[in-house]
Amino acid sequence: MTTAPNRRILLVDDMPTIHDDFRKILAPQSAAKSALDATRAALFGDEIVTSDEAPFELDSAYQGQEGLAKLQASLDQGRPYAMAFVDMRMPPGWDGVETIERLWQTDPRLQVVICTAYSDTPWEEVFQRLDARDRLLILKKPFDNIEVRQLAQALTAKWQMTQALALQIDSLEAAVEERTRKLTQANEALQTEISERKHLQAQLVQQGNLASIGQLAAGVAHEINNPIGFIFSNFGTLEHYLDHLFRLLAAHERAEPAASLRSLYEELQIDYLKEDVPMLMRESKDGILRVRQIVQDLKDFSRVDSAQQFQPAQLHQGIDSTLNVVANEIRYQADVVKEYGQLPPVECLASQINQVVMNLVVNAAHAMGSNRGRIVIRTGATADEAWFEVADNGSGIPPEVLPQIFDPFFTTKPVGKGTGLGLSLSYGIVQKHRGRISVDSEVGRGTTFRVTLPLRQTAEAAETPDLVAA
Ligand SMILES: Nc1ncnc2c1ncn2[C@@H]1O[C@H](COP(=O)(O)OP(=O)(O)OP(=O)(O)O)[C@@H](O)[C@H]1O
Ligand SMILES: [Mg+2]
Repeated sequence: MTTAPNRRILLVDDMPTIHDDFRKILAPQSAAKSALDATRAALFGDEIVTSDEAPFELDSAYQGQEGLAKLQASLDQGRPYAMAFVDMRMPPGWDGVETIERLWQTDPRLQVVICTAYSDTPWEEVFQRLDARDRLLILKKPFDNIEVRQLAQALTAKWQMTQALALQIDSLEAAVEERTRKLTQANEALQTEISERKHLQAQLVQQGNLASIGQLAAGVAHEINNPIGFIFSNFGTLEHYLDHLFRLLAAHERAEPAASLRSLYEELQIDYLKEDVPMLMRESKDGILRVRQIVQDLKDFSRVDSAQQFQPAQLHQGIDSTLNVVANEIRYQADVVKEYGQLPPVECLASQINQVVMNLVVNAAHAMGSNRGRIVIRTGATADEAWFEVADNGSGIPPEVLPQIFDPFFTTKPVGKGTGLGLSLSYGIVQKHRGRISVDSEVGRGTTFRVTLPLRQTAEAAETPDLVAA
């Protein structure tokens, strides 16, 4: 990188004779000399070059103020001075130090030589006021011509080099900035990629989880369903037979049996047995009905009987069966209150929506402290959307944690208690349904999650049920 050499010099001195001296030393190609050169060139065909070096361009100012004005004008024209010679004493105006201060305020690049026969201001003070000593030289009067010339040579060259260096630094900084920008971009792309992969990984785990829960539920439901079926039907017959036996017993008692039989009645506590057997039968029947309900819930929850296809489903039924499945998990933490609205069938993957309900309800139960809490499940619908809310009065989520809760593997629970996948999976499932999931939480008051689902899926969504959108 090169710039045109700058040989422009400003001389600030109140003595006109000094200006003459400087002009002789620094700009020997005076008007007369130039005319002579021109004549010589005309006569002998010489080139008008008297020196190998480019000539200095000397401007004169006789007071500090005038010097400053010239400096400003030079900058305005885009032709800055490389250096200035400044006299120390210049009555009645600014002295040299003040002049230099002002010049530097306007152009800090200016190289300066302070010229003095004696100093009114002690040097210590001068240097305190002019701390940029790397641009300041001292020339003591009376000076030698060669000193002046060398100073001008060296300082204009120094200005040039400093300028070139600054340009180089500028371009280097621009290159570094460009590099940094590219690196930042690459880093952002990498972050996006990482978080996409995390989501993908979570979704794979989710698919695996759902599949295995579904299979397990399907197996258990099938295995239990058959024996429960015949126990239940045998139970009806058994009740019937027992009724017969009790009627026979009653007839027998009425026929006044022999004393030996009567003592056997007492020994076998037949009177107590007559009261207890119907009770035992009733309790057992309750138990069997409950087992049957659990099996039904498991089947509903996993929807093993339906293929993985978007189908109209009753959300309330799904929520109820999910609540039964997780009843044990919440029984000791909270009461569940249902505030169901009117819901039309929702076209969805019912088992996956159940999974969402389960994650939200279990999270709500986990958020309860030592006091028993309350989980309210609300539902409702608009013309084309259905929604459900799971609201708890648990710990709440701190604002700094809130942005992360849907991230895969983000958990605040101890190792073994949470994997941090529940919400990220739920988010994926809701996305797949073209729905929304939102959260409203306040520390100390509780948390409400709301899931909104379209009542009907578009053809595109329904065709790709296994693709979970990240
Ligand atoms: N209802 C809630 N109240 C308070 N904090 C919650 C609630 N729901 C979620 N959180 C916070 O969000 C975090 C992430 O929840 P998420 O369900 O994704 O994972 P997890 O419950 O920790 O583990 P996992 O569900 O995989 O067993 C939780 O660890 C918890 O800090
Ligand atoms: Mg969870």
